[in-house]
Amino acid sequence: MQSRFHVAIIMDGNGRWGQRRGLSRSEGHLAGAEAVRRTVEAAPNFGVTALTLFAFSSANWRRPEGEVNALMALLRDYLLSDGPKLVESGVRLHMLGRRDRLPPELADQVAQVEAASAANAKLTVRIALDYSSREAIAQAAVTLGRAASLDAFDAIIDAGQGCGPVDLMIRTGGEKRLSDFLLWECAYAELWFTERMWPEFEASDLADAVCDFRRRERTFGAVPAAEPCAA
Ligand code: FPP
Repeated sequence: MQSRFHVAIIMDGNGRWGQRRGLSRSEGHLAGAEAVRRTVEAAPNFGVTALTLFAFSSANWRRPEGEVNALMALLRDYLLSDGPKLVESGVRLHMLGRRDRLPPELADQVAQVEAASAANAKLTVRIALDYSSREAIAQAAVTLGRAASLDAFDAIIDAGQGCGPVDLMIRTGGEKRLSDFLLWECAYAELWFTERMWPEFEASDLADAVCDFRRRERTFGAVPAAEPCAA
């Protein structure tokens, strides 16, 4: 089994899940936080070493103020309640995205859990907040300021708002798009989509996605290993 296995998830469908049950969209997000807990706990059992979760895109600021505030409060509460448990269980937490537009209490909470978990190595959990992949790429281009190799781009994106290549990208909620999430890092990612709404996501769904991933042959543009190489 590969030593590094990076899974990224677009956690879509909280709002619809809530509305279909006569609940508010924010209650859907609350149920989504439970699915985050289940997934973080289960991930190491499937060989996952890094898990990157799309919690709030830069485009999500366009949502109604009440929903945005509820999401920010939920994220802060999650870090407050689960931060110490994550640290204790060997999880390293890191945030991707802009910090300057987050509510200060949330930004402080993120920084605290990041600092407390910095030495952990069992699983790296990255939470993308106020994140835009195109912005991260554009920022890297500005930083480089010149024509540069792909390796130089890799390094500079990683040093900024990047997270290294994604192996498996999961999206729940039935949509089949990347929505400005890890566009650079998904260059060779395997994609897995499910109709299930994020609050319904269980460890067994992660198992299905990982099993499917393991069956795929990844050639990164080369030919499959077993095929003779015709010159
Ligand atoms: C997209 O689904 C989801 C979000 C914008 C929020 C994701 C947030 C969580 C899962 C909450 C907790 C996160 C952590 C890290 C504790 P949507 O609400 O747009 O759903 P819809 O497509 O049904 O409208």
